[in-house]
Amino acid sequence: MTDLLDAAERLDREELGALQLERLRSTLRHAYDNVAFHREAFDKAGLSPEDCRSLADLARFPFTTKADLRDHYPFGMFAVDSSQVRRIHASSGTTGRPTVVGYTQRDLDTWADVVARSLRAAGARPGHKVHVAYGYGLFTGGLGAHYGAERLGCTVIPASGGMTARQVQLINDFRPEIIMVTPSYMLTLLDEFERQGVDPRSTSLKVGVFGAEPWTEEMRREIEERFAIDAVDIYGLSEVMGPGVAQECVETKDGLHIWEDHFFPEVVDPFTGEVLPDGEEGELVFTSLTKEAMPVIRYRTRDLTRLLPGTARVFRRMEKVTGRSDDMVILRGVNLFPTQIEEIVLRTPHVAPHFQLRLTREGRLDALTVLAEARPGTTPDQRAAAAQCVAAAVKDGIGVSVAVEVVDPETLERSVGKIKRIVDLRNT
Ligand code: DLL
Repeated sequence: MTDLLDAAERLDREELGALQLERLRSTLRHAYDNVAFHREAFDKAGLSPEDCRSLADLARFPFTTKADLRDHYPFGMFAVDSSQVRRIHASSGTTGRPTVVGYTQRDLDTWADVVARSLRAAGARPGHKVHVAYGYGLFTGGLGAHYGAERLGCTVIPASGGMTARQVQLINDFRPEIIMVTPSYMLTLLDEFERQGVDPRSTSLKVGVFGAEPWTEEMRREIEERFAIDAVDIYGLSEVMGPGVAQECVETKDGLHIWEDHFFPEVVDPFTGEVLPDGEEGELVFTSLTKEAMPVIRYRTRDLTRLLPGTARVFRRMEKVTGRSDDMVILRGVNLFPTQIEEIVLRTPHVAPHFQLRLTREGRLDALTVLAEARPGTTPDQRAAAAQCVAAAVKDGIGVSVAVEVVDPETLERSVGKIKRIVDLRNT
């Protein structure tokens, strides 16, 4: 295995730290010299790039937020001449302007390298066929996965998202070993396999590389069991690069190794911004170490997780993301994440792994209804028992009362990409 690793994966912690510091200092200088936003922010904080003498000094530098990127729409955060930008991606965002990101040729090469590294960690090998069902287009999922798989020496099947019946046909006929898709869309594919009368455990697939949305250990078990594959987690965000910022190794499945030679992680208190020690949960923050077109300095991801020491690789791990701070529901003073409901729904007999959270307002209080789909063939009694079981588990485990409705099979909307778990009806 070690002979398959990249040079950076063979460094020890000390060598890695030295490489990170050198790259960090040059990134800060590059950002300061070429992006007015960063120059003004550093000046305001009374800092010059050279004030970063150790990795810990980074904590003195100002954060960058999504709002900062939006305010400089479209290209105000770019640090190179437009003639050097080879590709642009954008994340749609639910409201207003999209967030735009750019890549030089070297950035695209780095990206392909880290996705190739991720795929290798997932168990992919040159010669494997990789079915990419992440959407192609401005979203970074499809093209990011695509070029990484090619870089590793795999054969890519660029299926993109949607046309679910055809996806199943392609998997049956082309016989890929690897699938890259959101976990929620994998469940949509599962339904389609069953509808076509094809046993999902009988496909050629060996490994699924799932990301772009939070998913739980319970979901891993469900997918692994139903498809007879290994399911591993891939993380990334367009502002930092796209997929391939961190990846779980198939041999350990113990959280995601952050490719720290390119992306420097910190975890901060989401309210105070103070850096937290490894092991403590907070908001993940990234500084790019090698990006040219759009370096990011202390970018607030809003993703909640904690940093853990390396295991299968020298790089630190991040625990599976609990959720985004934006997706946190505060119900009568109790914080609740969709992943907590996912854990409960997937543990409950007679309900399928399809659920939705509906937020309403009753008088002056917010109320939450969990809609979960019954498995086909369940009796009314079984459904009632399942509803009670979910409500009790939420009350016991999270400490808040919710309503639970177990609805008919095939009634909740299916995912074709990133699933939207929360339907907010409070202002309607
Ligand atoms: O979702 C990039 C990606 C594509 C990652 C394909 C993995 C696979 P954005 O559209 O910019 O980029 O959304 C980034 O998605 O901040 C997280 O909130 C969430 N996210 C991505 N991967 C994971 C994951 C892509 N493995 C946002 N677990 C991030 C939990 C994830 N959340």
